[in-house]
Amino acid sequence: MKLSTKHLLGIKHLSQEDIQLILQTAADFKGVLQRPVKKVPSLRDVTIVNLFYENSTRTRMSFELAEKRLSADTINFAASSSSAAKGETLLDTVQNILSMKVDMVVMRHSASGAPHFLAKHIDAAIINAGDGINEHPTQALLDAFSMTEKFGSLKGLRVAIIGDIMHSRVALSNMYLLKKMGAEVMVAGPPTLIPTYLTEAFDVKVTYRVKEALAWCDVANVLRIQLERQNQPLFSSLREYNLAYGISRTLLDSIGKSITIMHPGPINRGVELDSDVADGKDSIILQQVENGVAVRMAVLYLLRPTPQ
Ligand code: CP
Repeated sequence: MKLSTKHLLGIKHLSQEDIQLILQTAADFKGVLQRPVKKVPSLRDVTIVNLFYENSTRTRMSFELAEKRLSADTINFAASSSSAAKGETLLDTVQNILSMKVDMVVMRHSASGAPHFLAKHIDAAIINAGDGINEHPTQALLDAFSMTEKFGSLKGLRVAIIGDIMHSRVALSNMYLLKKMGAEVMVAGPPTLIPTYLTEAFDVKVTYRVKEALAWCDVANVLRIQLERQNQPLFSSLREYNLAYGISRTLLDSIGKSITIMHPGPINRGVELDSDVADGKDSIILQQVENGVAVRMAVLYLLRPTPQ
C-alpha cells in the first residue's frame, strides 16, 4: 500500500485512505516499539536530514528516534549554528545537503509554506514538521492515533480545540484531519484568537466560553498561547487569560463528566492548563508524545525512496 502523495506537506493534501494507512502502519510500528529490540531494518541505506529552522523538543527528538528505530542514517541541522546565520538561502542550504546523497528532508520553518516552496524545487521527499501558522501534520496524526487508541474510532467523536486557534498549526492540521475522519469539532477561546472564517471553511462549531466547549466534548485538545507569533496584544494578560480560558480541576469538576485532556506541548502550566489537570488521570499528554515516534516511523516508512 502507498500514500497518494510523495511528500507530507499537510493534512490538507491527504485522503481519508492515506490517513487510515498511516494510522494502521503506526499501530504496527507501535508493536515494534514494545519489543525488547525496538529496531527494524526498513530504512537501512536511507539518509535523512532533520532541518530545523525553529526550536523544537518533541518533534525533532521524535523524528530522530523514529529514524534510528528504522535504521536510517540521520544528520541534524539547526539554523542558529549553520551558514543560514551568514545569509545562505533555504534552497541553497537544502541543495547543498542533498548533494551529499541525502534522501529525505524533515523540515520545520517559521515561514508558512516553506516546505511547499522546497517541494517545487527538489526531488527528495519532504516531511513538514511544522511551518509557521500553517500545518503540523505529524502532530495531528499522532493526536488522531492517540484518540483512536482511547476511543476506537474518530467517527462521531466530539473534540474541542481550545486556546490560541489563530496562531496554531496544530489547530489547523487537527481540523483538516478530524473533519476528514468524521469527528465533530468545536473551537473555543478569546474572540481575538479565533479567525471568523473558520466556521464556514471547516464547518466547525465556535464558542468563546470554555465551559460550553468542555460540557460538549469528549476530548479537549488544549493549545498554548503563542506569544512569539503575536505582534500586538490580543488579550489583556496571561493572568486574565488563565481566569477566563484556563482549564482547572475546579472547572472540570463543575461539569461532572470525564473529559480526555490532550496538549501538543510545550505546556504553559498555570496559563492554558493547570498542573493537576495536565498530570491528572484523564490526561493522555505523555501517551501523545510516546505515540509520536510510531506515527513518524509510519510516515517515514511510507514515503521512503524506492530502490533504483
Ligand atoms: N508539539 C510540538 O511541536 O512540540 P515541539 O515544538 O517541542 O516540537
